[in-house]
Amino acid sequence: MLRISDIQVSYGDYQVIWGVSLEVREGEVVSLLGPNGSGKSTVFNTISGLLKPHAGSIEFTGRRIDGQATHDIVRLGLAHILERRRVFPYLTVRQNLWLGGYHPDARAHRAQTLAQVYDMFPRLRERQTQLAHSLSGGEQQMLALGRGLMSRPRLLMVDEPFLGLAPAIVEEMKDAFARINADGVSILFIEQNVQVALNMSSRGYILESGRLALAGTSRELLESAEVKRIFLGG
Ligand SMILES: Nc1ncnc2c1ncn2[C@@H]1O[C@H](COP(=O)(O)OP(=O)(O)OP(=O)(O)O)[C@@H](O)[C@H]1O
Ligand SMILES: [Mg+2]
Repeated sequence: MLRISDIQVSYGDYQVIWGVSLEVREGEVVSLLGPNGSGKSTVFNTISGLLKPHAGSIEFTGRRIDGQATHDIVRLGLAHILERRRVFPYLTVRQNLWLGGYHPDARAHRAQTLAQVYDMFPRLRERQTQLAHSLSGGEQQMLALGRGLMSRPRLLMVDEPFLGLAPAIVEEMKDAFARINADGVSILFIEQNVQVALNMSSRGYILESGRLALAGTSRELLESAEVKRIFLGG
């Protein structure tokens, strides 16, 4: 479904991604791990078209998407939930969600998708007329996720969905991901906590200083001494 081959990405003259390759197959849940500053968000921003790789290629559903505009990539079925749950603070919950279903293919099903999002997160339905900035952190994360779902993605990419959330909300978000995946949506997510990430995914990739340090099944990675070295410096 998604195949990244040997991408190189720079901010100006400063190269941060050095030949990363990664893939997500239909229906999979895959995690992208790595210490702070290892380039995880940069990889996501490159996939969704916010940054352009200066070498390598990115294919989604059999098409080259590197160099394409973000709105065209969204239309192909790829939704990217940015780090720190960026919602429009002075729009209501409902307006935020409505905007997520903007592209023509999603627009035709907007009311139906909105009802599905509200069923998944009843708290958003209760707060639909409230301004987004007045929501709690957990509710804003639900809103960011719900807005992504409004585009009816085939692949959902989520950058640190659990950051700063209370344990009970983390559990609620995990349930939501399981339901989204059961509906046939593939998921690629970034998470700092190795245990949490690998328990939720079937495979993982580990970045270290902009390079792929390890890749494997979650079971292999959980048992790997190399993983312990990267994250615990052991
Ligand atoms: N807009 C930018 N301009 C210049 N350098 C940047 C920019 N964004 C990120 N970087 C640098 O690129 C490197 C990778 O950053 P990135 O945000 O991709 O890492 P990350 O793995 O997502 O980190 P974190 O776990 O802190 O979110 C870091 O050295 C960072 O300082
Ligand atoms: Mg990041």
